[in-house]
Amino acid sequence: MYFRVLTNESLCRKCNFCKTVNRCVNSRCVGCLSCYFACPYEAKNIVKDEGKQLVKITVDGAEYNVPENITVKEALRLIGYEVGIYPNEGRIQAPCGLGGCWACMVIADGEPIRSCITGVESGMVIETDVGSAPPLRIIHGPEPHAVGGKATPWTEGKGRRYIEAAIWTAGCNLRCRSCQNYSVTYDNSSEPLTPKEAARILTYYRRLYGVNGLAISGGEPTLNRRWLIEYFAELRRLNPDKKVRLHLDSNGTLLTPSYIDDLVEAGANNIGVEPKGIRLETFMNISGIVDKAIAERYLRTSWEAVKYLADNYKDKVYIGVGIPYNSAFMGLDELFEIGEKIASIDPSIQVCVLDYFPTFRRREIRRPDYKEMLKVKDILNGVGLKCVIVQTVIGHIGP
Ligand code: FES
Repeated sequence: MYFRVLTNESLCRKCNFCKTVNRCVNSRCVGCLSCYFACPYEAKNIVKDEGKQLVKITVDGAEYNVPENITVKEALRLIGYEVGIYPNEGRIQAPCGLGGCWACMVIADGEPIRSCITGVESGMVIETDVGSAPPLRIIHGPEPHAVGGKATPWTEGKGRRYIEAAIWTAGCNLRCRSCQNYSVTYDNSSEPLTPKEAARILTYYRRLYGVNGLAISGGEPTLNRRWLIEYFAELRRLNPDKKVRLHLDSNGTLLTPSYIDDLVEAGANNIGVEPKGIRLETFMNISGIVDKAIAERYLRTSWEAVKYLADNYKDKVYIGVGIPYNSAFMGLDELFEIGEKIASIDPSIQVCVLDYFPTFRRREIRRPDYKEMLKVKDILNGVGLKCVIVQTVIGHIGP
């Protein structure tokens, strides 16, 4: 069964997010669902799309007849190509499905395209081997930062001067209703950069602002593995000095041990992981992932990433763990459990609790107040964690 997306005019606020940030690249809806997930006001409906004609396409030299008005990714799946989420699983990786990460790139009629949002067209010639084409990714920034991310060492004196230059990657594998950076996460319309271009620009910002931290956050930076590894390798080549912090901020859901090994080998020496909760229900509630098996794997992978980093790279990598907090989606009892889990891995790991504010599809929640965040800090210190920083309305408190 095929679908297409229609705008529900009674819910549409005319914000134009779907015309300026998350833009359709096709003349007719191909059911990619990118705009459905991106609309801040949930004004998109999915309806059945039946009665499709067939169109002829060529894939890796062989001809196929596939339904019209479907994505290239869906056509490849129908033909028999495995489509995966995790790097190196499947012939095509399509972790975001939004058009932001470019991990699903194939060559169509000689041009790189995103197979997850681009529709098939009659006569299209597709090559799935993109080996010699440089990887691409939509990037926002750089911007100088006085605070940094969850793994920025507290000793940098957060909030007093610029301590990092950061870029943010479009595309995410999660669908958090309280996404704290949704205009980047759902951007599929900006021009993508190669890893070398991004590393060069960020290095220039290091010199411009005199910082030692060079950070990448998102969205979710790990979605396009080839891009990220080449980016860190180039950043290290351009910044060979010992003072530089090459900082990755991730939700950790795709950070398998081999991926972490590759990142450290490429030069990352500052890694933050933010598992969204410890209980599966909470993770599914925060992340918006409705497939239980995928949610379980994501949650398990992110916690295993914290442990793997602590067990294997504590001498090479400054590690930070982020915890999203808002009483609307997490009770203090679960926070206590999270604290115990981190303390059992390593009580000296830097922990940063983020006070999730109302935004995107959860504008009704209340930002935790200062006293609530101090209570959160007390609980985490109480389970034995030695380095707890809480983000509050008046700035970072701790450790
Ligand atoms: S999966 Fe296609 S752009 Fe991310």
